[in-house]
Amino acid sequence: MNKSIITDMDASDPLAKKRADFEIPAGKIYLNGNSLGPLTRAARARAQETIDQQWGQDLNASWNRHHWIDLPLTTGAKIAALMGAAPSQVVCCDSVSINLFKLLSCALQLQSDRSMVLSQRDNFPTDLYIVEGLSHLLGSSHCSLRLEDAGSLEPALDSRPAVLLLSQVNFRSAELHDISRLTQLAHENGTLVIWDLSHSVGVLPLELDKWQVDFAVGCGYKYLNGGPGAPAFLYVADRHLANISQPLSGWMGHRAPFDFQPSYDACDGIDQFLCGTPPIISMSVLDSALEVFSDVSLAQLRAKSVQLGELFLSLLGQNDSLAELQLQSPENGANRGSQLAFAHPSAYAISQALSAAGVVADFRSPDLLRFGFSPLFLSFADVWESIQILVAILADERYKDPAFKQRLKVT
Ligand SMILES: Cc1ncc(COP(=O)(O)O)c(C=O)c1O
Repeated sequence: MNKSIITDMDASDPLAKKRADFEIPAGKIYLNGNSLGPLTRAARARAQETIDQQWGQDLNASWNRHHWIDLPLTTGAKIAALMGAAPSQVVCCDSVSINLFKLLSCALQLQSDRSMVLSQRDNFPTDLYIVEGLSHLLGSSHCSLRLEDAGSLEPALDSRPAVLLLSQVNFRSAELHDISRLTQLAHENGTLVIWDLSHSVGVLPLELDKWQVDFAVGCGYKYLNGGPGAPAFLYVADRHLANISQPLSGWMGHRAPFDFQPSYDACDGIDQFLCGTPPIISMSVLDSALEVFSDVSLAQLRAKSVQLGELFLSLLGQNDSLAELQLQSPENGANRGSQLAFAHPSAYAISQALSAAGVVADFRSPDLLRFGFSPLFLSFADVWESIQILVAILADERYKDPAFKQRLKVT
């Protein structure tokens, strides 16, 4: 493929201007926004304002003056808009793991005559660990975990699980589940669904209300660019709100926290899912990072993310030296999320050599090299450039340098 075609693609990209909203370090091609989204200019400004003015000067008055107390709901409403959800059903709080604990407990309450949670063997591990933890707490007669491979999930619904717990996008392969279809099939079997949207929100068009999803969770630090350890979010369909009580009954979920009553009386709305004091600095940063979505559509983002992935694959296919990378993601862009995974016995060393050459990708144990395509800040020229660098690294085998084999604590 001729480089001028790439230049034309960038010139006609309606999202190209969005890159200016981000602070991507010079000389870096960041193919890791699927793991940690980069800093936006809005987030930097808001962090400074929150620290210098709100905390530094206004101190405690900021809970009211700067509406800190409302942030979980106002930020949640912005995330709801990205998911086809009415704003009253989403709150920003805690981590995905903690939110899953709350939602699983509620889903099991609603299904008092059932106990089995059906999930996928290669789901993101924390999702499975939380079911295990709840099973230890409640006893296996109230909560048990059944794991199936992706292809066996639909037949397993015949066994009438209490809950179907899945991630829409597989964190390794990026293989996509059809939320609408699986939610409908689950409901036909009397099963409630919890979707983990950590790899979906901000890059895939979602219609949670239309698809009749019961519950969902997701994180703020990937495609939402909310920063390291950004708070997560949870979604609960309105129809369930009156019939559940979440177990982490902290004071922020109380209907009158500043009455300091000795007994718990939960809020009626989605705010019943709050537990403790919200992390205002990181939630403010996430809240402002969401501004980049205000003038783009998810259909546009999805279209560009697929195009970036297709370009990567087609450039790869033109280079024989890259044949040693085994594609582990669906070949058809319509069937995968916004990343590509390749198996290689030296995947870790290659990821380190890439990073030394300015291309940030990541490694997933045991042998996967993962490239994420965030459509808000990547250009088609970035994809072209990253392929040239990958070809060079594989051709001169610099990844075999022992320095690139040293495993760091976070991989
Ligand atoms: C699908 C999925 N779920 C959950 C998590 C982790 O969630 P948290 O650390 O917010 O508990 C991740 C992290 O990458 C993830 O990819």
